[in-house]
Amino acid sequence: MLMRARSANHGSPDSAPAHVLIVDDEPAVRKVLATLLSQAGISSSVAANPQEALALLEKTAFEAVISDLRMGPDSGFELLQEVRKRFPNLPFVMATGVDDVRVGVQAMKAGADDYLLKPFDIDVVLASLQRARERKQLESELENYRLHLEQMVSLRTRELQAALAELEHSHSATLEALGSAIDLRDGPTAGHSKRVLLYSLKIAQEVGGLEDQLRTLGMGAWLHDIGKLAIPDSILLKPGALTRAERQKMERHVEIGYDLVKSIPFLTDAAEIILAHHERYNGSGYPCGLRGEGIPLEARIFAIADSFDAMTSDRPYRSAFPMKTARSIIDVGRGELFDPQIVDAFLAVGEDTWTMIGEDSQRASVQKLVSGNDSRLPPAGIVTCPAHPPNTPLSSRQGRA
Ligand SMILES: [Fe+2]
Repeated sequence: MLMRARSANHGSPDSAPAHVLIVDDEPAVRKVLATLLSQAGISSSVAANPQEALALLEKTAFEAVISDLRMGPDSGFELLQEVRKRFPNLPFVMATGVDDVRVGVQAMKAGADDYLLKPFDIDVVLASLQRARERKQLESELENYRLHLEQMVSLRTRELQAALAELEHSHSATLEALGSAIDLRDGPTAGHSKRVLLYSLKIAQEVGGLEDQLRTLGMGAWLHDIGKLAIPDSILLKPGALTRAERQKMERHVEIGYDLVKSIPFLTDAAEIILAHHERYNGSGYPCGLRGEGIPLEARIFAIADSFDAMTSDRPYRSAFPMKTARSIIDVGRGELFDPQIVDAFLAVGEDTWTMIGEDSQRASVQKLVSGNDSRLPPAGIVTCPAHPPNTPLSSRQGRA
């Protein structure tokens, strides 16, 4: 066949279309082009206008279209537009008698894969069909590649989300285990960490406007005594009163705890609460003697939750105080040990509610309490003291006693 004879000049015969639709309003042009294609081994059908062409395209599978640009009242552009809509992957070559490169550029911009000048030269026609087909193949490969990339991105995104969920679960489980270890170590205060976590969250809820700080507050409350893991049993579990030296060692637990967790990215803010959890509103606390609003708000909230739980829990050396007594003592401490506004928020919660929270605490999941929200919350009030150079900016020195 001529097609095969010419294939050496026009690339692989496999890349030339086998069945072409010729669209031209002039019968003589249609006949000449069909004959030329036939001699090259390519079958064709003919249409006199865009309507006929579209009807044929709907019925028959073509591998390319060669369409005249001007067909009486019809335009090859209209056909091109419709073909692009219905058969986006069908190679389309625009033919024109106008020897003007701008017409060809316009056709290509409108979606044609190539353009031809009349009168037809079979070598040029074959080369054009081949280019058009190769272009469409390339577009198809690019589209497949794009789809493959999208699938890969989607898959990787799902894998990343699963990994992040696993990481979140792991770090929450680690937190839960750490807090439990603290409570186990400090036997007489069993359940203390979880209760003060819940009490702190309840007070914060009552204070209001702290939704973004709840997670940091929860983690700080849960891990507040993590530094006690480094305190010797002889001091931590001593039944009697501590000596001055022993008390000083015990008080080091806030700094030890701070140093333990400050470098863990998701615990950096909670570390500030750990460091400040024994500060007192009147400046009588430790380790820095911060006072008033110089103490991070979360630590001021925690201080009330911690004292409340300490008073309402049994100790080896005394029984739990009645709740009414504990509330009165906290009320008396307003402006001295405790932030008055937070005392008000605490007292606004009824005794029944505190009882219920205390009873429910053993069933509560710390993982759920501290891992349900966005992990990048606004920082807690950053605080430091000369004894503890920060790994975060100093923002409040004014409260030092
Ligand atoms: Fe403590």
